Amino acid sequence: DGYSAEVLFNQGFCYTYDDVIFHPGFIDFAADQVDLSTRVSRNITIRTPLVSSPMDTVTESEMAVAMAEVGGMGFLHYNMTMESQVEHVKRVKSHNPGYVANPAIMGPSATLSELDKLLTARGFTSVCVTEDGASEGTLLGLVTTRDIEFVRDRTTALSEVMTTVGKLVLGSTDMTLQENETTLLECKRGKLPIVNRHGCLTGLLTRANVKARLNRPAAGAPALDNHGKLLCGAAIGTRDTDRVRAQQLFGAGVNAIILDSSQGDSVYQLEMIKFLKNELPQLDVIAGNVVTQQQARRLLEAGADGLRVGMGSGSICTTQEVCAVGRGQATAVYKVGQVAREFDVPIIADGGIQNSGHIVKALALGANVAMCGSVFSGSTEAPGQYFYQDGARVKKYRGMGSLDAMKKGSDSRYLSESGHLKIAQGVSGTVRDKGSIKSTIPYLIHGAKQGFQDLGADSLEKVHQMLANGLMTMEVRTNAAQKEGGIHDMHSYTKVPW
Ligand code: XMP
Repeated sequence: DGYSAEVLFNQGFCYTYDDVIFHPGFIDFAADQVDLSTRVSRNITIRTPLVSSPMDTVTESEMAVAMAEVGGMGFLHYNMTMESQVEHVKRVKSHNPGYVANPAIMGPSATLSELDKLLTARGFTSVCVTEDGASEGTLLGLVTTRDIEFVRDRTTALSEVMTTVGKLVLGSTDMTLQENETTLLECKRGKLPIVNRHGCLTGLLTRANVKARLNRPAAGAPALDNHGKLLCGAAIGTRDTDRVRAQQLFGAGVNAIILDSSQGDSVYQLEMIKFLKNELPQLDVIAGNVVTQQQARRLLEAGADGLRVGMGSGSICTTQEVCAVGRGQATAVYKVGQVAREFDVPIIADGGIQNSGHIVKALALGANVAMCGSVFSGSTEAPGQYFYQDGARVKKYRGMGSLDAMKKGSDSRYLSESGHLKIAQGVSGTVRDKGSIKSTIPYLIHGAKQGFQDLGADSLEKVHQMLANGLMTMEVRTNAAQKEGGIHDMHSYTKVPW
């Protein structure tokens, strides 16, 4: 009983993830045995099928580092100068997996009130004190929230409250990650500053780093390139200046480029793909966004190494309302996936992911990877500072087509400038603090693995075979069925934020 995708998605309706529900299959393996390893683009393989969106409130180097560390991949946004974007790629490429990506550092004369601001803004609980606050300066001491919580005078200098370097247990650049982890665990402290032979700070290791490594999704080892560096992607536009940008990003070691547009079926993308495939053949080029088979076919025939699928399904998108174009995301993923498989090119389901069930649906309907903005926004690794709004700790999250983001220059994604009038295709707002993605991702991935187990598929390849052979059956949920499938009839309850 039930219907194949082929039948369900050819009836003149478009559906989104919540509209459809899969029927369970036969289980003969444990959820931990599910293998979600996949390709992001023609030549890039990752073990965790999640990538972070190139949005200026989602992915800069800190997010890209964290994504690659848990086995996924981050795509740097390009609402910044070429030089800054290149700098972010370099930061990802020079990061040592397993350590804090960008530790907080201050000088000894900074005050506690300055420290309070920094810790609140970045969601950290400690700061390394170096000479003059230089990023790789001589280490002088460490201040954690425990050192300062009962100090009333917030004009006190850090030099007066810090644990001085002589009393700290230190890690060393000459030690392996495992050796530094052992030092940290044996000394029973919370943080281990890492120094080189000259006593200069080179990094920081925390218990949270160790926990994150141990809690990584099974087989979710860091995603590394051929040189053993963390994988990193970046978005660009299709203007002439973006050709130079692509060359510079490639020079800094970027592994894949996304051509960032809400409607990718354009002569601009076709020309850009041809240019990049000629000039930088080692670089994978992901084109899009697309939602139909015709759009997909044109970009694939031009040589795209991957496609990004979705139009108007993002949590901050207003494209469907403003421009009247787009498609329900479940239908878009299924339809584009069919064509992409003919070309043996992977697709990224972009937008509309709110929980692990949506990840299962995206992958089972033909996607190779899910791209998230909202789910990763508000996390410690997302750009921007935390602040309080109506009693909640929040960070900003905004659409790249929002007026707010376009003020900074992101309008090329939406081809939105007509004279001086900018038309918004997204909104700007706030989202709650969701903690580190190093906790979110293992949770989502394990949820997704349980979904695969329920479907009776122990890998992405298997689920795609079932899809193609009509062996995965499904139905559309009525409004009442969707209501029943959600939480109901509770007086109160607690829910994880994703
Ligand atoms: P989620 O649902 O994960 O979606 O928050 C993120 C995706 O949304 C797209 N995006 C936009 N779409 N107007 C739009 O119509 C916008 O301003 C906008 N900003 C981002 C983008 O594909 C992203 O990955």
